[in-house]
Amino acid sequence: MKPDLRPAGILATGSYTPARVLTNFDLEKMVDTSDEWIRTRTGIVERRIADPDVATSDLAYHAAEAALDQAGMDAADLDLIIVSTVTPDTLFPCTAAVLQQRLGAKAAAFDILVGCTGFVSALAVAGEMVASSAYERIMVLGAETLSKITDWDDRSTCVLFGDAAGAALVGPVEEGHGILGYSLGNDGTNADALKIPAGGSRIPTSQESVANRLHYLTMNGPEVFKFAVRAMADSSEEVVRRAGLEMKDIDLVIPHQANLRIIDAAAKRFHIPQERFLCNLARYGNTSAASIPLALDEAVRGGRVRPGDIILLSSFGAGLSWGSLILRW
Ligand code: UT7
Repeated sequence: MKPDLRPAGILATGSYTPARVLTNFDLEKMVDTSDEWIRTRTGIVERRIADPDVATSDLAYHAAEAALDQAGMDAADLDLIIVSTVTPDTLFPCTAAVLQQRLGAKAAAFDILVGCTGFVSALAVAGEMVASSAYERIMVLGAETLSKITDWDDRSTCVLFGDAAGAALVGPVEEGHGILGYSLGNDGTNADALKIPAGGSRIPTSQESVANRLHYLTMNGPEVFKFAVRAMADSSEEVVRRAGLEMKDIDLVIPHQANLRIIDAAAKRFHIPQERFLCNLARYGNTSAASIPLALDEAVRGGRVRPGDIILLSSFGAGLSWGSLILRW
């Protein structure tokens, strides 16, 4: 932390998942897949799916309320709301604006769109804004209704994703605590490996784009897989080194919950016992920007995070992007 900056960290967390559970066995009835394939290739057992009339801001609202409740704060105390999502309620206004109105906040509001790396990116931005004393209280959310952009006829992607929201309230913390550093990056050479082809300015929505199913998420899974382990490991090592720490100092790693095999491979490279990795993707699948704050909230509420613990958040995703952030609780 530079001398003119104050320490910034997470004051409270919250999360929310829709009630409806979609199991691997349910998926067996929808596409040519099996519970065995999904579990052994991904580690996912079930995921939550939002009702048709539920949008991303609805999930985000409950997660934000939970974080405010934990902090004993009112939405009127928020200065800024940042929502990270690839499934906004509408392309504009941003989902943070919709959420601001529903929370009854007077805060500034904007979205960040970096796929699964979005929450770590938003947390880094919020941390800097609090550290510089520009703002006092920022609600950072990762929120997704990926079920709305999933091609339910495509077995290579529909078994992977789920819906969820996670929130972290960012503010000033005691000296020696809070965000110790972060490392963000992007390699656009493989940007096509994970995307929604149509609905933007390159291929505007048309009857043809819809007929060709270009409004759904597409992914080159093996390509993203190869990239993921390297990106998470390299950026984690960098951020740990920059914070003047070693991998053995990390008490808890919260990796992006995409695939158990990716997490296992990262654990091997980190030389950190697997017990120190938080893993909840069996129950929720890949919830993109929501995956890390959802897992973090589970860790906080489950008593897995103690004051003074060193926590490493590490993610990768569309872009192809990566981001790791380290903090002392
Ligand atoms: O959040 C960031 C974005 N996403 C990711 O992190 C995903 C990263 N990638 C992955 O997790 C893995 O690549 C997947 C889980 C997506 C796929 O696993 P894989 O071991 O890389 O499988 P694959 O794509 O190489 O496919 C192997 C086989 C293929 O059949 P053939 O060609 O060998 O006969 C696929 O057609 O598995 C088949 N397959 C399936 N079989 C049953 C693909 N999806 C399924 C399925 N059920 N759902």
